[in-house]
Amino acid sequence: MHKHDYNFRPKPAFENGIFIPSAPQPVIADIEKWNIFDDVKFLRILMRNAIESTGRLARTQKFVRGKMFGQTHCTISDPELIKHIFVKNHNNLKMNRVRQSVLKPLIRTGLVAAEGEDWKRMRHLLTPMFTPRHIRTFSEGMRSTIDTQLPLIFQKGAEIKFTEAMLALTYQVLSDALFSSEIDSDKEDLLHAFDKVLMTMGKPDPLDVLNMPAFLPRVTTASGRKALKRVWKTVGKAIDQRHAKLQSGEDVPLDFLTLLLEAGDDEHAALTKDEIQDQAVTFIGAGHETTSHGLIWLTYLLSQDLKARDRVEAEIDALDMNGVPVDKWSEHLPWTVACFEEALRLYPSAPFVTREFTSDVEWEGTTFEAGEAVMLNLWALHRHYALWDNPDGFIPDRFFGEKRKQINPYQYLPFGIGPRVCIGQRFARQEAMIVAASLFKQCRFEYIGEAPPWPRMRITLQAENGMPMRVVRREKSA
Ligand code: HEM
Repeated sequence: MHKHDYNFRPKPAFENGIFIPSAPQPVIADIEKWNIFDDVKFLRILMRNAIESTGRLARTQKFVRGKMFGQTHCTISDPELIKHIFVKNHNNLKMNRVRQSVLKPLIRTGLVAAEGEDWKRMRHLLTPMFTPRHIRTFSEGMRSTIDTQLPLIFQKGAEIKFTEAMLALTYQVLSDALFSSEIDSDKEDLLHAFDKVLMTMGKPDPLDVLNMPAFLPRVTTASGRKALKRVWKTVGKAIDQRHAKLQSGEDVPLDFLTLLLEAGDDEHAALTKDEIQDQAVTFIGAGHETTSHGLIWLTYLLSQDLKARDRVEAEIDALDMNGVPVDKWSEHLPWTVACFEEALRLYPSAPFVTREFTSDVEWEGTTFEAGEAVMLNLWALHRHYALWDNPDGFIPDRFFGEKRKQINPYQYLPFGIGPRVCIGQRFARQEAMIVAASLFKQCRFEYIGEAPPWPRMRITLQAENGMPMRVVRREKSA
């Protein structure tokens, strides 16, 4: 294969009973011979589908360093080095410039984009909302949202764009957890506006990658800004209404919105209206697509690996959904949990964790210099040849029972690492298992795409073709 044969798409295969989905293979072999033409080709790939830019070295070595358009980039894929940089030396890192250029216009003070003292204050104020106790209180609400939505979205026999259906479902779960049912009249509009924002503003503009000055207009994001204003308006209205209710002493639901309005203590000022708006947009932005795509890839993998699917169904059938409390379901579904973990290994929803060094960091004789960009590429880490047996194969057994403990905690990081690890991890895991149990109890899904689904990076890792599926009734369903 030529080193720039980026269009090569291997077919999915079964090898010794293991399903190997079709996925971009590392094709950039010799970074030492890199030249300006490679830079341009690389930039094109980055803009089209950044996941395809992962090189072979990132999947075979501990770290890879190279220059692009004059800027040094380093991709790290070694558990000890990850710990060294992202945990021990987290104070020597700041957010990556290109990442911020995408996120800042969207979420302004939102936790994902905040830095320095602003981030510390925000993380401190938001952490109590994501404690196990609070997340458990969302479980019944999650179940009832899912129960109401499932029959509307998944009509038996229908041929659907599974991505669209799941995004609608996880959006509704998050929107209910945030606002209860208070924005229902604006719900559709908000979802469409959000979609538009992510599609237009959710990828780096070439001018940002090339480090061009901020005053040059970024045409790729212009159309999304109007949609973003609609999002802010709807969320702002919900905040005003809830604030008025709280002021007048009316009963209010204990959802994220109430928690955001009540956050603050002696040492940390309460959140302003704009800040609440930004956190709400951040939760939707960071929380609904990520969870959705994890579940979409899980469903695809199970639609191909029928043995794994049968085991998931047997486990779910054995769960007494009306007897066991909803927040305890996942404890009864270890195989389904393992399948979800494995889906997130193969398709980490937010695969690029990017930063910049603010001062030099030493490691085993190498100096990573201030100003260098550093990336934890979860796609490469999770498919690293030295860390995983059969890295491209779907093998949920890796995460089942005692085997889970053999996985180095720094080699599997779908929710990131260090102080900026995903704050919504518990929420996402709980939701994923409630959706999986409810969905697979009632339905099976047959993949009906003409070609195998291809992962494409748009902030999150999605299926390029929208994952067409046929919904099939399950014989044993209640
Ligand atoms: C399967 C689902 C999810 C995945 C795979 C995921 C993944 C991640 C990753 C990798 C990061 C670290 C980013 C970085 O360090 O640059 C992150 C951060 C974050 N996530 Fe998630 N996430 C998921 C669900 C959620 C949910 C449901 C919420 C909110 C309800 C959420 C809110 C956040 C926030 C606010 C941050 C920023 C934390 C900070 O910088 O302090 N995520 N997520």
